[in-house]
Amino acid sequence: MLKDKKVRIAVMVSGGGTNLQALIDSEKAGTISSGEIVLVLSNKADAYALTRAQKAGIKAVAVTRAEFGADFENKIIKTLEENNIDLIVLAGFMCILSRDFTDKFEKRIINIHPSLIPSFCGEGFYGLRVHSAALEKGVKVTGATVHFVNEIPDGGEIIMQKAVEVLEGDTPETLSARVLENAEWKILPAATQLVCEKILKGEI
Ligand code: GAR
Repeated sequence: MLKDKKVRIAVMVSGGGTNLQALIDSEKAGTISSGEIVLVLSNKADAYALTRAQKAGIKAVAVTRAEFGADFENKIIKTLEENNIDLIVLAGFMCILSRDFTDKFEKRIINIHPSLIPSFCGEGFYGLRVHSAALEKGVKVTGATVHFVNEIPDGGEIIMQKAVEVLEGDTPETLSARVLENAEWKILPAATQLVCEKILKGEI
């Protein structure tokens, strides 16, 4: 492994960015030591995640479909390339990426999903909808998954999972909060560090 070399990470977001915050805090604390977050890219211009990035001194850009239309993904790719990005972390990024995009970055995109894949995942399952579906089904255990991103929504190789109990009286909001705190904010930084180490070792 090259000493002092770090993987250049872009975090892609759409909303509040609590997972982004967990990544920033883990880098500060040294638990992410093999990578550095150098770019935060949002598809929503008003995402609070962009403010979190600015507060941490990280370059923050918005690339929206409204502004770029059919060139949306090309603009994202150009921005990633200009910033020499090695690894893309999707942290609440609410767009499905095309096959062209995912093929271009094979084993270089990871995503956090708020359920235990293969339950409650795929197209249409995002944010609170995932937790509503889990409560409707009546599962007693749910959780979060970090996986590599390929052309199948939520279908790439699983990297890490953590289970969380569903409690009597849970609402989508209370369940979401417990899954974020007890699973997502832990496994996303841990999986990011793991993938960065593997990239530096040339294992992937
Ligand atoms: C998180 O729960 C994340 O797992 C989910 O959106 C939320 C974003 O929260 N992602 C998906 O549903 C993707 N399919 P955050 O902006 O506070 O990190």
